[in-house]
Amino acid sequence: MSSTSNFPNDQPKTVVELEGRDRIEVEGTTVKFRGCSELTNLMKTMRKSFGPDLKAWPLPSGDSHSAILLREMVQKLRGDWNYPYKEVEVCHCRGVSCKTIDEAIVGGAHTTAAVSRQTTASTACGTCRPEVQRMIDYRLQDETAKASLKKSA
Ligand code: FES
Repeated sequence: MSSTSNFPNDQPKTVVELEGRDRIEVEGTTVKFRGCSELTNLMKTMRKSFGPDLKAWPLPSGDSHSAILLREMVQKLRGDWNYPYKEVEVCHCRGVSCKTIDEAIVGGAHTTAAVSRQTTASTACGTCRPEVQRMIDYRLQDETAKASLKKSA
């Protein structure tokens, strides 16, 4: 399913498109994103509140699913997305990938125990548990949003 959305009072060059829930295009820049339809409305709200300049948008804080995804999306659209976890596999005992763990965190697993329950990561030797905690901290930290705001000011 595809949908296209123009922001209200849009300037002609700024368009956001959602295609198959995984692509967002702004001003000719395509960003791969595990999006959801709710993000279209959140983007409209941000645009209405803060205008078309993405650098003027504050990064949303909070640990809700929507806040985490919107924070990621704004950072990607600004070219500021620098997610440090790119290893294919984080938990070698259980063969759990970084992507699987990140999806669990974004979906609401905000403790290592919750990540373990959802993914089986950290359920054998436990060596990967600190890395899982760092991934949780990274996704939930508001300091990232504040640092990015200072950088763009
Ligand atoms: S590396 Fe994850 S439990 Fe051993």
